[in-house]
Amino acid sequence: MIESQRHLFDIPDDVAYLNCAYMSPLMKSVQDAGRGGIAVKGQPWTLSPPDFFGPSAACRGLFARLMNCQPSSVAFIPAASYGLAIAAKNLPVDAGQEIVLLQDQFPSNVYVWREVAKRTGARVRTIARAEAQSEGGIGTDWTSALLEAIGDKTAIVAAAHCHWTDGSLIALEPVAKRCREVGAALVLDITQSGGAWPLDIEKIRPDFLICACYKWLLGPYTMGFLYIDEKWHGGEPLEYNWIARKNSEDFSGLVAYQDAYQAGAERFDLGERANFHLMPMAAAALEQILKWRVGAIAETLTAKTTQIAARATQLGLEADPLHLRAGHFLGVRFPQGIRPDLLEVLAREKIYVSVRGSAMRITPHLYNTDDDVDRLFDALKREF
Ligand SMILES: Cc1ncc(COP(=O)(O)O)c(C=O)c1O
Repeated sequence: MIESQRHLFDIPDDVAYLNCAYMSPLMKSVQDAGRGGIAVKGQPWTLSPPDFFGPSAACRGLFARLMNCQPSSVAFIPAASYGLAIAAKNLPVDAGQEIVLLQDQFPSNVYVWREVAKRTGARVRTIARAEAQSEGGIGTDWTSALLEAIGDKTAIVAAAHCHWTDGSLIALEPVAKRCREVGAALVLDITQSGGAWPLDIEKIRPDFLICACYKWLLGPYTMGFLYIDEKWHGGEPLEYNWIARKNSEDFSGLVAYQDAYQAGAERFDLGERANFHLMPMAAAALEQILKWRVGAIAETLTAKTTQIAARATQLGLEADPLHLRAGHFLGVRFPQGIRPDLLEVLAREKIYVSVRGSAMRITPHLYNTDDDVDRLFDALKREF
């Protein structure tokens, strides 16, 4: 278990921010790294060609360590949608085949597949929420529903590790195994779990895995990572920028145009990937996460959400059971539905959560204290 790390963040005492799934705050060290990068760009004569390569290579390595994959399989993306567009451009789909998605999936992981379906004559098949009653309570069992839906017609399964609305969990190992059995590609958007809930790429072996930086990776906005399985390394990037080409280190020789790319997944990097302020921020955040260890983060956040779930149940609210959700994430439901002014009432007291679909989404991190949780429940008891 990790003790409160609030001192590393810039969060006033009177703010109860239980909304990491919306956007994480930045650690002071990450803000300093960003300011350092801006200062460098302010004096560009201090920059030299290696600055376009070294920091990005180091950052690729950090994400690879976090996910247990090779750095050469990691590319930089500006948004989850960009990584998903690369997957969609490269995965073969035939007319009549199916692209399997989850109900109410995040829109960046839906619209792109609708376009693929339009272009190819494939069909988007959306898995409905399947409620499972168990000893621990009622929750969503995505795994059984997915395993049932994946079959001979499936070309692509595009899912997540946990659902963005309420944290309901997908058991990825059996789903990945089933995909391999039927020859379907697996695309994972782990923006709502990467950095807080362990995932081992060696075990899952997805085709593409996408993670935006600004939530559980505690990094900046407009920065993210794309893992690409080696079998797709020869694919088509989304754009054709200069630095992804062979010999781009030689700035004076750039007009000796090259057909060949840099090795591995680098060809898929977004343009201007050197990103002198965002890159060091992402690296600083990843270094701290690796120091804490994702397993310990998950364990600590699971204890926090378990305590919050118990208090929600005492108040007569319904909390998703632990075995069907990711431990860092809690969806809470009000039996009479959610009052439209819930967020406004809480925000007046500087308490921050989200509403997504029918759930109040409570997503703490290591900066949250017991006092934050007390304040949330004092307000809920008084107002609802
Ligand atoms: C599951 C998931 N994926 C991706 C994103 C962000 O998508 P994008 O980077 O395309 O804006 C979010 C934001 O809430 C999300 O919840």
